[in-house]
Amino acid sequence: MTKAIKQVSLVGLGFVGLTTAAFFASRGISVTGIDIDAEKIQKIRKASLPFYEENLEPLLKKTIQTGFLRLTTAYDPAIAETDMTMIAVGTPSDAQGQIDLKYIKTAAHSIGQVLKQKEGWHLVIVKSTVIPGTTRKVVGKIISEESGKVIGRDFGLCSNPEFLREGSALKDTMNPDRVVIGEYDDKSGRMLKAFYETIYSEQTKILRHDLETAEMVKYVANSFLALKISFANEIANICEQIPGMDVCEVMKGVTSDFRINPNFFGAGLGFGGSCLPKDVSALLKFAKEQGYSAPLLHGILQVNNHQPQHVVKIVETVLGGLQDKKIAILGLAFKKNTDDMREAPSIQLVKQLHEKGASQIFVTDPKAEKEAKRIFHNTVNYGSVEECLSEAAACILVTDWPEYTNISPKTLQSLMVEPRLLLDGRRIFDPSSYDRSVTYRGIGLSDTSKL
Ligand code: UDX
Repeated sequence: MTKAIKQVSLVGLGFVGLTTAAFFASRGISVTGIDIDAEKIQKIRKASLPFYEENLEPLLKKTIQTGFLRLTTAYDPAIAETDMTMIAVGTPSDAQGQIDLKYIKTAAHSIGQVLKQKEGWHLVIVKSTVIPGTTRKVVGKIISEESGKVIGRDFGLCSNPEFLREGSALKDTMNPDRVVIGEYDDKSGRMLKAFYETIYSEQTKILRHDLETAEMVKYVANSFLALKISFANEIANICEQIPGMDVCEVMKGVTSDFRINPNFFGAGLGFGGSCLPKDVSALLKFAKEQGYSAPLLHGILQVNNHQPQHVVKIVETVLGGLQDKKIAILGLAFKKNTDDMREAPSIQLVKQLHEKGASQIFVTDPKAEKEAKRIFHNTVNYGSVEECLSEAAACILVTDWPEYTNISPKTLQSLMVEPRLLLDGRRIFDPSSYDRSVTYRGIGLSDTSKL
């Protein structure tokens, strides 16, 4: 009988890795976080996060102080001294939408080298999002070749995808809807399940699959979420053409059906972030490689790519052209409560506005301004909400930060200039509170002035 897992090493201290490491450590597990980026390790050691995520910093601080979380750049002895190693390195996409496995491969090589010297069974878990077959055919194979050990006998192998969301990473990690385990062999799956049973309540659903099914669950879950959003956006664009129609009302009626869950039907400027766009593209690429064209997956991305263009068209129509008009953009992060701008709709929006001749674009975001400056440089102007709105002909609400919800019609009226277009890209404002001094347009809401 192998001893229970009490010591864990975790490779890759990005968003998923660091949140997972801090959470395990808070449950009394001895965790060693490994990252090859020495600067990042220095920063984390001081309990300073390399990204913005609410509530994570205090937990990080506490777990480092209590000694349950240690940090290092060296695989050895970190891996040799632990019972299980989780790989949580990034799997970015290349220009064709295919996932790049270079970090996964490097991690597998390094783990293999340490396992070569280690006595006793060791469990290796792939948490990174990888295309079905990668854990077995890439990670397992490399570790086996490097260590000279046999999978399923000398070391165990599982896939264990992560479903946490940016902005609520800790909450999602502490209370997951389910834990998905993909196992190479029964012992690996049993050991990982037993580990999770020690840190989660009895109610937590733990599912055991084979490796490839677990890998697929992650892609399908993210693709389905993306499908819901693109569906809502497509319906919203249709609703805008029907007098008196509002997508929010339509969706209320639709989602009252017990078969249709209301979450993720929020129409807007489209989905962004480090996962949804990348995962749909990777699944599409994978399907095509298998000889299937996957038109629905293709459609999800098509609708999503079109959404910023759709918004620019509305602004252009209401303003009668974009030249010499000041345009304010509220919110740049791909969603609220994060400073992340990866694949953010705001990037495409700014690009499209520039292409259509807009030269006075003013942007603001409570957390993402630093990141925005890295992306937009001085092609846009940065300022407070007030500075952005002052003398602006149009205001586009992109990210639903709470600080924007109480911008009053009066403020818009006094700061902006005709036609004072407010394009509510997240439907956070009440359309009925605007009189004709402000031109209110909401995604999925028909133009009421035409009624
Ligand atoms: C996602 C998955 O939700 C998570 O399970 C997985 O582990 C990682 O990918 P995340 O990228 O943090 O998480 O963002 P999410 O909350 O899913 O939002 C993705 C995008 O969809 C955001 O741009 C968001 O604004 C947008 N969105 C979400 C909508 O446009 N409408 C909605 O109704 C919901």
